[in-house]
Amino acid sequence: MRGVALIGCGAIGGVIAKAIDDGLIPAALLYVVDADRGRAERLAASLRNQKPAVASGVDEIARDPRVEVVVEAASQEAVLQYAEALLAAGKELVVLSVGALVRPEARPLLAKYGGRVHVPSGALGGLDALRALALAGVESVELVSRKHPSKLADEPYVRERGLKLEGLREPLVVFEGTAEEAVRAFPRTLNVAAALALASGAPVRVKVVADPSTHRNVHEFVARSKAGTLYVRVENVPHPGNPKTSYLAALSAVELLRELCSARCSSAPNRNG
Ligand SMILES: NC(=O)c1ccc[n+]([C@@H]2O[C@H](COP(=O)([O-])OP(=O)(O)OC[C@H]3O[C@@H](n4cnc5c(N)ncnc54)[C@H](O)[C@@H]3O)[C@@H](O)[C@H]2O)c1
Repeated sequence: MRGVALIGCGAIGGVIAKAIDDGLIPAALLYVVDADRGRAERLAASLRNQKPAVASGVDEIARDPRVEVVVEAASQEAVLQYAEALLAAGKELVVLSVGALVRPEARPLLAKYGGRVHVPSGALGGLDALRALALAGVESVELVSRKHPSKLADEPYVRERGLKLEGLREPLVVFEGTAEEAVRAFPRTLNVAAALALASGAPVRVKVVADPSTHRNVHEFVARSKAGTLYVRVENVPHPGNPKTSYLAALSAVELLRELCSARCSSAPNRNG
């Protein structure tokens, strides 16, 4: 069994810990850690089969040779803060806050340790085909993310600009920019833009649309390459056990960990493009 540590004990971290506890991921959960220690303690206490220690900090995890895989489910800042120490200690790192990986600060990290940084496909599909197209060169990727206005109203980007979305009758484009700009503007919800940038190696144009006609979070992308054009549309529903996170995004993280923890050699998945 591979030893796993979890950084971040919120919505997605809770789903991952439960999947390990239920035996869906063949691993031993050795540590949980969270900036809010109470959250880590509550999560550890809620598990029936696994008995993870609540780590005092990420250094404790980096030092423990039993930990082979570390899952980050915290924030972009957590990735930038802890990834170097964990990767330098030889750990495999599963990054949920994928937005961090398209920030310039992460470039040296990916160049040095990219083979041990793993990225789930999240609330999207088709990234395997996108990575294949990237071998022939992807010319452009366009992503349109649609959400109901009520789901965007609390986003800091929307509040800071004083955008009024209440009572909207027609779709309204609230953001247009690159993947890097998108993950800074919507750090918690546009990991898909970063995943596309990493998989394609191409510039990604992102549009965020407040759409009163949709009650699902819908992501559509089109990728153009001389090897073909890829068009993908995914309609996301909330996780039944934790409506704060997308069902598909949670499943994709669980599936990646299942594969990583089942593979004990170099065939382990690496999906950072
Ligand atoms: N790629 C994907 O498919 C995907 C899916 C869901 C969530 N996410 C990302 O995963 C992250 C967590 O999402 P969530 O919905 O579980 O959020 P959440 O707010 O429910 O939980 C995050 C937890 O991490 C902790 N945390 C934040 N920064 C920390 C740090 N520097 N050190 C230690 N703990 C820290 C917080 O205290 C909190 O308990 C977010 O960045 C989100 O964008 C990615």
